[in-house]
Amino acid sequence: MRTFITGTAGFIGFHLARRLLEDGHAVTGYDGMTAYYNVRLKEARHAALSQFQDFTPEIAMLEDREALARAVERARPDVIVHLAAQAGVRYSLQNPRAYVDSNVIGSFNVLDLAREIGVKHLLLASTSSVYGASPEVPFHETDKADEPLTIYAATKRAMELMAHSNAHLYRVPTTAFRFFTVYGPWGRPDMALFKFVKAILQDEEIEIYGEGKMSRDFTYVEDLVEAITRLAALPPSEENRQAAGLDTLSREAPYRVVNIGGGQPVGLMDFVETIERIVGKSAKRKMLPMQDGDVPRTYASPDLLEALTGYKPQTDVETGVKAFVDWYREADPALR
Ligand SMILES: NC(=O)c1ccc[n+]([C@@H]2O[C@H](COP(=O)([O-])OP(=O)(O)OC[C@H]3O[C@@H](n4cnc5c(N)ncnc54)[C@H](O)[C@@H]3O)[C@@H](O)[C@H]2O)c1
Repeated sequence: MRTFITGTAGFIGFHLARRLLEDGHAVTGYDGMTAYYNVRLKEARHAALSQFQDFTPEIAMLEDREALARAVERARPDVIVHLAAQAGVRYSLQNPRAYVDSNVIGSFNVLDLAREIGVKHLLLASTSSVYGASPEVPFHETDKADEPLTIYAATKRAMELMAHSNAHLYRVPTTAFRFFTVYGPWGRPDMALFKFVKAILQDEEIEIYGEGKMSRDFTYVEDLVEAITRLAALPPSEENRQAAGLDTLSREAPYRVVNIGGGQPVGLMDFVETIERIVGKSAKRKMLPMQDGDVPRTYASPDLLEALTGYKPQTDVETGVKAFVDWYREADPALR
C-alpha cells in the first residue's frame, strides 16, 4: 500500500508512519515543520522515520497547493491520511487565523487533490472538541456536534462538512476520525502530560485548570495507530455499514465519522496522581479556574469503532503514562 500522510513530523503522524513502514508499506510524509512547538522534536521524528528506505519526506505547507500537488503526484498514493493541522485548544484563542489557514484552506487542498487523483480511501483527523460542552455522554458520532466552543473545534467541524460534500459529489471514500486526548512517547510539549512531567522534574508548579474537576478520555497513541490502520483497510461502503449494525454511514455519500477513544474517562486529579506515582515525586499544584474554550469532559462511545474493526483502545493510563515518562527521561534534553 502506498500511503501519503500529512503531519508526519507531528506526534501522531510520526507513530502512524513508523507503524506502516515497519509493516512494509511505502510512506510519503508531508509536513511544514511549523514553529508552534519545538521544531527540533519534529526534526528528530523525521530523522527517525528517514531510517526506513521506504520513507519519503516532503517539507512544505498545506496551503501551498502547488507543492502539495507535486508531492501527491510523485507519491501516487492509494490512501491519504490527513493529520497535519494547527492543533491545540488554548492557542486557538491567541491565533485563530492559523487554524483557518491550516485546517480549512489546507484541508480543502487535501480534499481537492484526493478527488483529483481518485484515492481508494481518504482519512482525516478531527477531534472530540467538536462535541463542545455536551452533557450527553458518552459522545456518539450521530450527536449533532454543532456547538463548538473554539475556533479549533469549528475549523475541524468545517473540515468534516467539506469532506462530506467532497465524498458525495466525487464519491471519494472518506473516514473522519474524532480523536480523544492522545498521549504517549514522543508526545506534544503543549499537552498536559508533557507539561506536568517536565514541571514536576524541574520542581516547578503545574497549572491545574477547572479546579481539577475536568475529565478526559485519554487514548494511548499505539492504540490509536492500531485503530487507524484497521480502519484504513475498510473504506466506507454499504457492506460495512450493515456489518457494523449501526446506521452511522452518511445516506448521501461514502463518508463516515468514527470516534477513536476508549470510553473510559479519567478525572484530571487521578491523572495527576498517576503521574506523581510514576515519576516518584509530588507535584506543586496551582489550582486555576476553567479556561475559556475548555470543555468539562470528553467521553467517547467506542461502539462504532469496535463494530467496524473488532477493536477498541485498551492501554490503561498507568501503563501509557509510564511509557511516556520512560521516553522523556531518556530523550535528548534538546527535545524536552
Ligand atoms: N494529540 C491529540 O490529543 C489530538 C486530539 C484530537 C485531534 N488531534 C488531531 O490529530 C492530528 C495530529 O495531531 P498531533 O497531536 O500529532 O499534532 P502535532 O502538532 O504534533 O502534529 C501536526 C503536524 O502538522 C504540521 N502542520 C501544522 N500545520 C501545517 C500546515 N499548514 N502545513 C503543513 N504542515 C502543518 C506540524 O508541523 C506538525 O508536525 C491533528 O489534526 C490534530 O488536530 C490530535
